[in-house]
Amino acid sequence: MCGITGYIGTNDAKEILLKGLEKLEYRGYDSAGIAVENQDGIHVFKEEGRIADLRNAVDGNISARSGIGHTRWATHGSPSKRNAHPHQSASGRFTLVHNGVIENESELKAAYLRDVTLQSETDTEVIVQLVEKFSQTMEAEEAFRETLRLLNGSYAIAMLDIETPGVIFAAKNKSPLLIGVGEDFQVVASDAMAMIHVTNQFVELLDKEIAIVKKDRADIYNLQGEVIIREPYKAELDMTDIEKGTYPHFMLKEIDEQPLVMRKIIQAYQDENGRLQINEEITNAMLKADRIYIVACGTSYHAGLVGKQLIEKLAEIPVEVHLASEFGYNMPLLSKRPLFIFISQSGETADSRAVLVKVKEMGYRALTITNVPGSTLSREADDTLLLHAGPEIAVASTKAYTAQIAVLAILASVAGAAKRVPTDLDLVKELGIAASAMDTLCDAKEAFEQIAAEYLPATINCFFIGRSIDYFVGLEGALKLKEISYIQAEGFAGGELKHGTIALIEKGTPVIALATQTNVNGSIRANVKEVETRGAHTCIISMKGLDTAGDRYVLPHVHELLTPLISVIPLQLIAYYAALHRGCDVDKPRNLAKSVTVE
Ligand code: F6R
Repeated sequence: MCGITGYIGTNDAKEILLKGLEKLEYRGYDSAGIAVENQDGIHVFKEEGRIADLRNAVDGNISARSGIGHTRWATHGSPSKRNAHPHQSASGRFTLVHNGVIENESELKAAYLRDVTLQSETDTEVIVQLVEKFSQTMEAEEAFRETLRLLNGSYAIAMLDIETPGVIFAAKNKSPLLIGVGEDFQVVASDAMAMIHVTNQFVELLDKEIAIVKKDRADIYNLQGEVIIREPYKAELDMTDIEKGTYPHFMLKEIDEQPLVMRKIIQAYQDENGRLQINEEITNAMLKADRIYIVACGTSYHAGLVGKQLIEKLAEIPVEVHLASEFGYNMPLLSKRPLFIFISQSGETADSRAVLVKVKEMGYRALTITNVPGSTLSREADDTLLLHAGPEIAVASTKAYTAQIAVLAILASVAGAAKRVPTDLDLVKELGIAASAMDTLCDAKEAFEQIAAEYLPATINCFFIGRSIDYFVGLEGALKLKEISYIQAEGFAGGELKHGTIALIEKGTPVIALATQTNVNGSIRANVKEVETRGAHTCIISMKGLDTAGDRYVLPHVHELLTPLISVIPLQLIAYYAALHRGCDVDKPRNLAKSVTVE
């Protein structure tokens, strides 16, 4: 979380930094700031709130050709102007922005900064004050390096020094940072999206590397001062992927992109004969495993729950699904030949990465399923499967969820075929049918807007119930509703209600039930009756063939193992419209950020 930009060149730095921050706002939007440098020195502007507020606060008359910027998701210190980045050293010589968490902040303060009065509550300020302290006896670059050697934790940093004009000092450990290369300029950014409007050539900084960035070059070193040579890569990003176009919100655009993403995935994972394929090493790793451990957070965890069903049914390999934030500190007894699968849209989630680092240290093989090629989880795992979903910008994940399920289905199916597990599933055909069903649902938005308007306008809570695979989709539906509309929502296994939760049902409580599975169709409907009897306002979303009179919406028929691909769409849209009706900020819900790079 938090996003960083930097620019040094011949154009107006303010505008490039602000535009970059707007693209990075999904990473955090508690406060924002920029510092620009010109012949008069360094000028800092910061504001609590959004980039739009910062834009209003920036002095339009200042002309500068270099600077750094930051958009913040607060970790240490409340979201306020005082804690907003950039932070400056006591004398004002150094100005710095930081993404990450410095774990030994207190120790560093006690050891080196007893005589310095800190101006903020952030861990970041410690970094800039340390650089200043060391600069009393060494050159700025060495002081920067010396400071980095002392830091424990994660950081992506960009820093200006009043006494070294024309240079951005950058460094990275665990949090992502790229250097963008241009004809007569260089940029610094947390991701390529932020600066794709000025360049598509980027050089990745790796952990514990420093870059000395000037207008016409960027030199990379390790902490020992050795030179690192790394060629730029071309970021394959389409501007239409990162702009809303005619849509009012990214979330709606991304919901609508799901059928296209399905088709892209089918194409990406087909060989020239139209058969599904994945890299042989990944298939072999699946076949060698006596148990698969799926590790993920949030929506990706929910996709993992569906993935367990797919892998167990199609490939006959036992699967456990774990929350990354729990797994790292409470590791279960592992099997003899485990394979770890990390599911992460961003590929940057710190909780998942912490587990990945641990299991790699233990010598186990890991596969990452991610939307972001070159992301940390992708680089650090043995293998990667890409989601091909295109950038997901709305904080609430939608298209990544369905893409994760489709890729897990392909993985399971290819492994199952290699093991000769009998199946009646023609996955290419069935994913194509699911993509068409998604089209139908995306065209039926009005139906879901009406459900939101009828069931959710004044409610304080809502239940999503389902059995078997529908239960997992209910968990995702509840998460979507909670995070963007702030309605307390819970996903529940239909049969479990009577063991306690049914006590919460009273007159008018909305209960949305999914009924897409033949073997539990009767029993989920019985659960709906139980809550109806107690006054619940029920809404059944069933699948064609399993529907009965009175169902609120009937989904097109798809293969029963693939129903999450389509049953989630009404829930995404219901959440979207509920949030919209309540006047919530759909794409940037409060307290959240898109990529969660702190544990
Ligand atoms: C919810 C949501 C989050 C993420 C979670 C994991 O809509 O987006 O729950 O799914 O933070 O993020 P990734 O998949 O990037 O590891």
